[in-house]
Amino acid sequence: MTSQPEETVDNLFDIRDRVIVVTGAARGLGQAIANCLARRGARLALYDRDAGELATTSGRLADTFTRAVDITDEAALASAVAETKTRFGRIDGAVNAAGVLTIGAARELDAAAFRRCIDVNLTGAFLFSRIVAGAMDESGGRIVHLASVSSRVANLNYAAYASSKAALSQLVRVLAREWASRNILVNAIGPAVTETAMTREHLDDPTYRDGALSVIPMARFGTPEDLFGVVVLLLAPGGGFITGQTIYVDGGRTLV
Ligand SMILES: NC(=O)c1ccc[n+]([C@@H]2O[C@H](COP(=O)([O-])OP(=O)(O)OC[C@H]3O[C@@H](n4cnc5c(N)ncnc54)[C@H](O)[C@@H]3O)[C@@H](O)[C@H]2O)c1
Repeated sequence: MTSQPEETVDNLFDIRDRVIVVTGAARGLGQAIANCLARRGARLALYDRDAGELATTSGRLADTFTRAVDITDEAALASAVAETKTRFGRIDGAVNAAGVLTIGAARELDAAAFRRCIDVNLTGAFLFSRIVAGAMDESGGRIVHLASVSSRVANLNYAAYASSKAALSQLVRVLAREWASRNILVNAIGPAVTETAMTREHLDDPTYRDGALSVIPMARFGTPEDLFGVVVLLLAPGGGFITGQTIYVDGGRTLV
């Protein structure tokens, strides 16, 4: 057998020159992932509904395309993806980190807040997936969503968020089946609690913080960096036979 050690090893995680759209890129996990992908040579389109923070993020990165877009707005998404394709000539991958956290006891939760959570975390993910998949060429592509340990565990007061993330994980399975023949692989990552703007106010409450920490066997919260290995794998040649999965990066949270 002929061995090609250098080529084989390097290709596994090689995303150089891949054109990747990142949503929720203005801050938090989306911003950290965008920085990681840029360091590894990807060419990025960054979307977020927050134009101000998005400009700050993209200002630190070379050769990026940015668009202020709400992931629930199908027409705006379609035009952003079309412009991205015009700018780079193709789209190879997408990471959807746009999302909202809605917490509240089921009996008191405002119905509008419940609907908004489903709209952003689930319907937005659906719209984004099919628009970006429609822009991928015959060689296929990769789509990665940020789900959550809440796709699986039933935290108290998480009726809206957990429903949205569980449904997102199931959406990923169906899309993976529908698009497998086009070589479009669709997966999700399920992080445990990570300190970002989304979670900060809750983690400032010692009762919430201690409760959240007590159910993570590795006894620490996640960090954005914990996600990088799986994100890159799912976008790179090494992830070429993985589809329809939610991969938990959670220090064991979903074991409890
Ligand atoms: N932080 C955590 O503990 C944690 C854990 C598990 C999963 N997640 C998931 O990871 C993703 C990123 O979370 P984060 O902690 O970085 O949150 P974050 O609030 O820090 O960042 C989310 C980003 O999404 C953007 N966004 C929100 N709604 C949008 C919309 N309708 N259209 C476009 N952009 C929108 C926001 O402007 C923001 O920049 C979310 O889907 C979240 O549910 C986070």
